[in-house]
Amino acid sequence: VPGPVPRNLLRVGDLAPDTLAGLLDLAAAMKREPLGWTSALPGAELGCLFEKPSTRTRVSLVAAAHRLGMRAIVLNREETQLDRGETAVDTARVLSCYLDVLAVRTFAHAVVEEMAGAATVPVVNALTNTHHPCQALADLLTLREHFGELAGMTVAFVGDGRGNTCHSFLGACAATGMNLTIASPREYDTDQALLAEARELMAHTGGSVSLTTEPAQAVRGAHAVYTDAWVPMDKHHEQTERVARFAGFRVDDDLLAQARQDTVVLHCLPAVRGLEITSEVLDGNRSLVWRQAANRLPTAQAVLHTLVTTAGERAGDQEP
Ligand code: CP
Repeated sequence: VPGPVPRNLLRVGDLAPDTLAGLLDLAAAMKREPLGWTSALPGAELGCLFEKPSTRTRVSLVAAAHRLGMRAIVLNREETQLDRGETAVDTARVLSCYLDVLAVRTFAHAVVEEMAGAATVPVVNALTNTHHPCQALADLLTLREHFGELAGMTVAFVGDGRGNTCHSFLGACAATGMNLTIASPREYDTDQALLAEARELMAHTGGSVSLTTEPAQAVRGAHAVYTDAWVPMDKHHEQTERVARFAGFRVDDDLLAQARQDTVVLHCLPAVRGLEITSEVLDGNRSLVWRQAANRLPTAQAVLHTLVTTAGERAGDQEP
């Protein structure tokens, strides 16, 4: 992978544009030859610590580890001592003694940052409330496979502009020079600091980002339309309010009629059919959603391989 490799993958912004492109190249190579890397990291150990449910992230990480010749252990929060008061920092410090890389799914992003600070092995953010970098890599691989060149593409995100999926897609657009319009109700606007950070990077990569409260405006001319669940995992108490507020933000055939004829649709899954996206769209010929889900595996493989090999090289450099 060209470009500087960060110790951890906590946010898309941790990856310089060159590094990100290199990771996508590696993921594409791993996808072409999925079993060609089974002796890459023999005996290395992945640990996954999950404080929230997961289907795609957990299984793709474990399968990716196996395809690199690694082993994997998955722990749910309640199987650890966290509920008995052991801190996340102490947990990360100790788990580092047994592992070569640790993937963490948690709530506040600060927790994964603190764990990465205490760990002596690379930490991968497997989703926090504000960032989902593993998802963003699969999103980019999917768009790149379909369109070839990412720079200059016009893309729309319709729905919760404050969610982790939107935040990480914004970072991905910034790093690759895409033009993103985010359509969300005003109170779900994207975080201002992340917008500022993205715009700074886009000044170099050529991308842009704008906000609107009108989904039709966002999808006009878009090569790709992305949506995500209206109710995040830890916001079930806001279900009624959110469903009412997002009612005009459903990705359906009527909305897509405003987009390009060849527009494609993305969704990170799990989807609530009939809420943020209709079944006709999700299962229709414009949907890249299932390929997007499949691309979680080669992108996870590329991340694990890159972080673990680079950590090994760094450790080697420090030996006397
Ligand atoms: N998209 C995604 O992260 O799916 P899971 O929550 O099932 O891991």
